[in-house]
Amino acid sequence: MKKNSLVSKLLMTFTLIIATCLVVIAIVLSVWFENYHFNQRKQQLDLQAALISKERINVYNGNSQLEDLSSVANYVSLSIGADIVVTDYRGVAISSSESKQSLLRTQIIDSKNVEDLKSGKSIEDRNGKNRAFGDSQYVYYKPIMYGDTFIGSIVMTTPLEQIKGQLKQVYTIIWVSILVALVISSIIIYYVCDRLLIIPLAKINTAAKRLAKGDIENRVYIRSKDEIGELADSFNTMAESLEEVEKNRREFISNVSHELRSPITSIKGFIAGILDGIIPLEKEKYYLGIAYEEIQRLTRLINDLLDLSAMEAGKLKLNVSEININEIIRHCTISLEQKIKEKRLKVDVVLEGQNLYVAGDRDRLIQVVNNLIDNAIKYCNENGNVKISTRSKGNKALISVYNDGATLTEKEKTYIWDRFYKSDKSRTNKVSTGLGLPIVRHILSLHGEDIWVENKTGDKGVIFTFSLKKV
Ligand SMILES: Nc1ncnc2c1ncn2[C@@H]1O[C@H](COP(=O)(O)OP(=O)(O)OP(=O)(O)O)[C@@H](O)[C@H]1O
Ligand SMILES: [Mg+2]
Repeated sequence: MKKNSLVSKLLMTFTLIIATCLVVIAIVLSVWFENYHFNQRKQQLDLQAALISKERINVYNGNSQLEDLSSVANYVSLSIGADIVVTDYRGVAISSSESKQSLLRTQIIDSKNVEDLKSGKSIEDRNGKNRAFGDSQYVYYKPIMYGDTFIGSIVMTTPLEQIKGQLKQVYTIIWVSILVALVISSIIIYYVCDRLLIIPLAKINTAAKRLAKGDIENRVYIRSKDEIGELADSFNTMAESLEEVEKNRREFISNVSHELRSPITSIKGFIAGILDGIIPLEKEKYYLGIAYEEIQRLTRLINDLLDLSAMEAGKLKLNVSEININEIIRHCTISLEQKIKEKRLKVDVVLEGQNLYVAGDRDRLIQVVNNLIDNAIKYCNENGNVKISTRSKGNKALISVYNDGATLTEKEKTYIWDRFYKSDKSRTNKVSTGLGLPIVRHILSLHGEDIWVENKTGDKGVIFTFSLKKV
């Protein structure tokens, strides 16, 4: 166990708290027990003093001799292990147990105590420093009353050492049990901390280190529902998203390589054919034309990629101004006329008013509209219909691009926004990269706007709609 480890810190803290509590308990118990022990002694002395009192009264009445009193005192002294002296009303010793014979006829109670005793009160002195009895004595004074008359006192002394000797044993038991309790509780705390904290944390730590080294599939399995369990769950979620990111990165690289390789391969083929003379002279121009188209495609692909990465890195800044979206739509439709004619499409443009002014980046919105109309043309059946419309809704302008043709499945609806996603790979491979819609969506979200796609059920088709802020 390391000095700075969590478990040692916790163990120290808990042990300190428990130790403090236990010490307080021990002190309270000791004090309480000492009190209890002295009270027991006092009760015992009280009981025996009654016997002596009775004999003293007999002597007082002349029914007994002082010798009888002495023998009772002696007998009691032996049975309870205390020295006993009986005094008269002035505090002068008149009788005693054998051990205290030397005190007879001397004043053994000072006058202040005699006054107290006269009122019938007994006096307990737990640390008696009495000239007559010596230091460190437990001294108990008990008045002897005959009716209302104070006729003397009984003084009982026990060396404190004797009483404390019995207490010491109890103290030892108390402190030893507290020490044992402390050790046991520390061991329990250590194991509980270890099981609840240290082992799971170590698991997470190991997993994090492995993750840092690239083991992305690694997960932590902790079943507890507490904060540590939550931490493990968060760790797993993080690992999952890292795995997802890593998967995307790999896919992206392979997609990009693939998209770059096919035009380069064909360009290389044509040029090699021309250089080797395999392609006849009169066909050279034709193949150079195809190569030029491929290069244009490559340029577009690279531009798209640069755009996307700029947008994803948040580096693309919009140049927002007041623009006429109707004008942009007309402009894009005209620029795509060639393709429309090739597929013999019927294009319907239904615009709200002559002009519809919105806030946006002109070049970027041209890119959006171009991509959407290009898609509509590309995915429309021959002789099909395309409809482009604008309308206002509150402070928004809604722009829709519709084409008839195949509808999208639910899965496609979510994936078409992903980079390089192409649903019909064979049909569109030559002219698609699958970057159009992700770019469109990025541009619109930079504008703070949205784009969505719906299937038209009546005359089957797909309709893309996006919003812009009117000005
Ligand atoms: N109007 C549409 N009708 C049916 N499917 C569509 C339509 N527009 C997009 N899609 C589907 O969404 C996919 C992604 O479109 P996106 O514009 O991102 O890529 P692309 O058109 O294939 O390639 P690019 O636009 O880069 O040339 C398309 O491959 C197609 O499957
Ligand atoms: Mg497209």
